[in-house]
This record gives sequence, structure tokens and C-alpha cells, in this order.
Amino acid sequence: MHSRFSVPAGAGGQATCLRERALAALAAGPWPDKLAAVRAIADDARVDAARELAAAAPLPGRPARPELVSPAQVKQRSMATVEGRAALLHALAHIEFNAVNLALDIVWRFSGMPEAFYRDWLRVAREEAHHFDLLNRRLAALGYAYGDFPAHNGLWEMAEKTRGDLLARLALVPRTLEARGLDASPLIRDKLAGAGDAESAAILDIILRDEIGHVAIGNRWYRHLCAQAGADPVACYAELAQRYGAPRLRGPFNLEARRAAGFDEAELAALTAPAA
Ligand SMILES: [Fe+2]
Ligand SMILES: [Fe+2]
Repeated sequence: MHSRFSVPAGAGGQATCLRERALAALAAGPWPDKLAAVRAIADDARVDAARELAAAAPLPGRPARPELVSPAQVKQRSMATVEGRAALLHALAHIEFNAVNLALDIVWRFSGMPEAFYRDWLRVAREEAHHFDLLNRRLAALGYAYGDFPAHNGLWEMAEKTRGDLLARLALVPRTLEARGLDASPLIRDKLAGAGDAESAAILDIILRDEIGHVAIGNRWYRHLCAQAGADPVACYAELAQRYGAPRLRGPFNLEARRAAGFDEAELAALTAPAA
């Protein structure tokens, strides 16, 4: 099959730097090409931290389907039917597709960070690609494919809003939207298990385990930048959440997973404090 994804001119495969490869993977539209491009980034690819890169194509690359609609148009369906469970797995696959894009975006867009920063987010991109793959295979087993249901674009919208501000990106994407996944995931897992779908529930277990690591990476680099700026992480978060219109988080919170992901007690207390 001919791939519509191409490595930047003059890159010559192996010589290409990690952040260039991330940009190329982000621009890839068909999901098999995107997954292949993520997997092709070598562990020891050179990190070009200082370079400013420019995107040549509209970002992110995505397939023609799923159709993107407003969140209100995404229907909740019953877990009692195969179609209902497929719709839920599809919504999760779409979140993972966006998560691959978000991890790649943070790698190419923001220059000047330590090498470990880029390697951390490359690991996240790979794990998100694995999650997408697991869900997509499960969808196929149920007779469906990625693209069969409409989806919404909420995750990428926050990426757009924070495109010029790495501290805000870290605060609001991994530490807010992905962390919300830690809260939601056990409930979704139980719904699937309750409907007798042990295979899908097992995928949710893998995702939750890995997502704790992603939020931990978000916390690690958020704290790094706060320390550099001499900012208080809790006060800084409140300010960024307001400035960028972050969703107000509602419980129940998965405090155990949030602690494992590195949120401290002051941050957990702020979650449940009344809005200022
Ligand atoms: Fe994921
Ligand atoms: Fe994640």
C-alpha cells in the first residue's frame, strides 16, 4: 500500500531527528500510517532540542472519517447491545487517536527542553498508539472499525488554545484532560465488565495503568517549569485553568490513581475546593 505519509525531504530515514519524525507522524492522516510512523521513531534517534520546526501541512493529520461533531451530538448508547459497546469503544479509540497526536505535538512544537522531556513524550506517543491499536482490534472483533461513529474534537481544541504556552499545555492537557481519564476509566471498565464484556474491560485496565504514567510525566515537567519560573504549582494551575477556560472537574475522583501519578495533597484538596 502506498503511504501518504512522507519523511521530510533530505532526512534520509535514520539521520532524521526525533522531533522531525514526531512532526511527520503528526501530519500523517490514515491511522495505519500514523501508527507506523510512531513505531518507526528509533529509541536512539538524535534529539534536536534547540531547533525551531515549522509544519508544512495542516495539523493534525487525520483520516476522512470519523466525522467530527459537537460533543452534544455524540449519543450515549446502551451497554446492553453490541452496537452500544462498539460506540463506547469507538469514543475511546478516538480519544487515543487524539492522545497520539497530542504527545507528538508536544515533542515537535516546543523547543529548548532537556532531552529527557522529548524521550518521555515519545514513550507516551507509543503507548497511546498501542491503546488505539488495542481498541481498534476490539472494535474489529465486534464488527466495527474506527470511523464508523461520529466523534468530537474537545481534546485537540485544548491543544490549539495552548499552542504557544508549554506550561499551559502541561497544566491543561496531561494534568487536566488526561487526569480526568484516570477518574473516568474505572467507571467505564465496570460498565463493560457489567455487560459481560471482559475483553474490553481488560483493555481499560491496561489503559489506566499506562495513563497514570502519562499524567506523572505531565506532573514532572509541569513542576520542572514551575520551579524554573519560581511559580507555585497550585496557584499557577488555578490561574492557567481560568485563563484558558479549562473544564471544571467534577468527582468522583480516582484519588489513588491521582496520587500514584504524582499529585500532592494540596493539589488533591484544590480539586474538591469550591470555585473561587
Ligand atoms: Fe491512552
Ligand atoms: Fe495518555
